[in-house]
Amino acid sequence: MGWRGIFGFEYGIVQAPLGPDISGPQLVAAVANAGGLGLLRAPDWESPDYLRELIKKTRTLTDKPFGVGVVLAFPHEENLKVILDEKVAVLQTYWGDCTAELVAKAHSAGVKIVPQVGSVESAKQAIDAGADGIIIQGREAGGHVIGQESLISLVPRVVNLVGDRDIPVIAAGGIVDARGYVAALALGAQGVCLGTRFLATEESYANPIYKRKVIELDDTEYTDVFGRARWPSAPHRVLQTPFFKEWRSLPTDESEANKPVIGHSTIHGVEKEIRRFAGTVPNVTTTGDLESMVMYAGEGVGLIKEILPASEVIKRLVEGAQLIIQQNFK
Ligand SMILES: Cc1cc2nc3c(=O)[nH]c(=O)nc-3n(C[C@H](O)[C@H](O)[C@H](O)COP(=O)(O)O)c2cc1C
Repeated sequence: MGWRGIFGFEYGIVQAPLGPDISGPQLVAAVANAGGLGLLRAPDWESPDYLRELIKKTRTLTDKPFGVGVVLAFPHEENLKVILDEKVAVLQTYWGDCTAELVAKAHSAGVKIVPQVGSVESAKQAIDAGADGIIIQGREAGGHVIGQESLISLVPRVVNLVGDRDIPVIAAGGIVDARGYVAALALGAQGVCLGTRFLATEESYANPIYKRKVIELDDTEYTDVFGRARWPSAPHRVLQTPFFKEWRSLPTDESEANKPVIGHSTIHGVEKEIRRFAGTVPNVTTTGDLESMVMYAGEGVGLIKEILPASEVIKRLVEGAQLIIQQNFK
């Protein structure tokens, strides 16, 4: 039965890297301690010393393995050296090619490499490059969304592509509970990668106002109105907050670049101005007009009704999945 675990982790449950700093040491350690694969998020700029501290801090909170996610669209070479030097268990990559060269670098450091991709073609490239696992992201996903298809067809296609190779396929997008977990397993995935569900945990670094919105609001939209200047051509799925509903038709020639500053955040140790329509979600340090800031969430958000400890999220996923399997698939 596939739910037993991947890459030596107890369970096939992956906590997505949550940018820019929402999956910090507390969340990642809590997930690791509960038997899942937790992923820190590297800064979007070169900050090797800071990243090393982040990894070390996590190690003070858990003696279990964990990983780090890197968005390849941003500067990352120095950060990458630290990740490999620190020999974390898994390097997760996104929004850029997982090349054979990158795979070789990771493997020579003893680090597994798991790209998140959004199409069958990209999955094929990653498999050919030698990736250890594939996170396949459906259009249901919260945050930036690289693909166009839904998981129900993507997962089995990638599973077919992998064939009998030992490369776990991990489904990402809209999964928040045991039903979604079992559905992904039924499609042939060996693991699931959850972002929005782990955002709404006690340990995530999201601002409490953002967490509350995740609990209160049920609807999301696939859009491109946020962060156009800093990260162009990068559509994303967001909560339908009152601010978003008012501005969902933002003219295409407008972006955060010429908009007023509406708040401030300290992100990975750096004080940042947050402009209206910036792509940065509010974290614990954020001040200002939080209600007007972007709030990423996946399509499963309407099923999230309480903030839980991360360990409880994992417990419910595993126990719930076991129950569903026993009761329905004898
Ligand atoms: C707040 C937020 C931030 C995210 N940041 C990243 C990121 O930095 N890197 C990445 O690979 N994926 C990121 N994602 C996407 C996740 O990897 C994953 O595809 C998605 O969360 C799955 O859908 P779900 O949110 O419905 O569980 C983010 C998602 C959310 C909700």
